[in-house]
Amino acid sequence: MDANDPNTERIVTVFGGTGFLGRRIVERLLERGFTVRAASRHPARIGKVFSSTVRMPEAVEADILDDSSIGSAIAGSQAIVNAVSLYVEQGAQTFDRVHVKAAADLAAASRAGEVGQFVQISGIGSDPQSDSNYVRARGRGEQAVASAFPGTIIVRPAVMTGPDDVFLTTIVRLIRLLPVYPLFGDGDTRLQPVYVADVAEAVSQLIDGRNHIASSIFEFGGPRIYTYKELLRVIARQLNTNVRLMPVPFAAWDTLAGVAELLPAAPITRNQVDLMRHDNVASIDAPGLKQLDIEPRGIDEVIRMIERGA
Ligand SMILES: NC(=O)c1ccc[n+]([C@@H]2O[C@H](COP(=O)([O-])OP(=O)(O)OC[C@H]3O[C@@H](n4cnc5c(N)ncnc54)[C@H](OP(=O)(O)O)[C@@H]3O)[C@@H](O)[C@H]2O)c1
Repeated sequence: MDANDPNTERIVTVFGGTGFLGRRIVERLLERGFTVRAASRHPARIGKVFSSTVRMPEAVEADILDDSSIGSAIAGSQAIVNAVSLYVEQGAQTFDRVHVKAAADLAAASRAGEVGQFVQISGIGSDPQSDSNYVRARGRGEQAVASAFPGTIIVRPAVMTGPDDVFLTTIVRLIRLLPVYPLFGDGDTRLQPVYVADVAEAVSQLIDGRNHIASSIFEFGGPRIYTYKELLRVIARQLNTNVRLMPVPFAAWDTLAGVAELLPAAPITRNQVDLMRHDNVASIDAPGLKQLDIEPRGIDEVIRMIERGA
């Protein structure tokens, strides 16, 4: 879809357009000249979220759990991005409801509305057979969306970093605070943190259609793979501090996360613990940032952003 072709309609609707990744996708699409709708359950917040952007997206009220509210967001769109997240189950908001059923309903409504492109944001490691409710729902969601909207592009990012992230900012804060840093298990899980704006740029390129890579699945990881304990040491070195690492069994993390989830803003969730049980590294078989000619930024750069409060 070419945003600069005056004969082409160029409306893209981003569900989850107020989120950590979604709002950057909105910004990149606006910069590329698309008309962008940011769909949210709280459209009044959109003005604040995009207060520093050159152009504002259209604010559209939509809850993907409510079929009747998504029609007007979809109407006339040439592309839909589903960047809705759910990290902690609450009442009717279960992983299956949001990541499988609602995602598939959104894809089906997009197909019925003659939308040209559907991009489903998922995650590396998504697996319909997983023992983890979260990871299984992400895998089943990918399948359900792809069958409701043939030609769906599935985007699987690694853990994403940014000045306003949860992952790296928490580590930076805790490394300075804690005399001993707890590891997930022995800290051997391999991770490939990716800068959130690089993922957003990649998604905007896929929608722009300038890269003709014949793949329905993309996996986006950063420039380096670290074990968790290596990552902590690299971060500590950059912060000019020492870190003492302590292995903590996964079973203990499960208990801790179960209790933490009772808090209003859980500092750790069971799905985060599940995700730390397995390597989270982009597959060499799936195209990634390199194939889109994007030079991924490393965590050193993101740590500097965090330090500057950018
Ligand atoms: N963050 C990471 O490191 C990471 C890594 C890999 C994959 N991912 C995936 O990337 C995607 C985006 O994640 P994120 O971290 O950017 O999420 P986020 O910051 O938590 O944002 C979530 C977005 O979802 C929207 N939302 C939630 N429930 C909704 C509903 N029922 N109807 C409509 N909108 C709803 C929220 O909008 P309102 O509250 O305004 O309605 C918000 O804009 C998710 O699929 C996530 O699993 C994230």
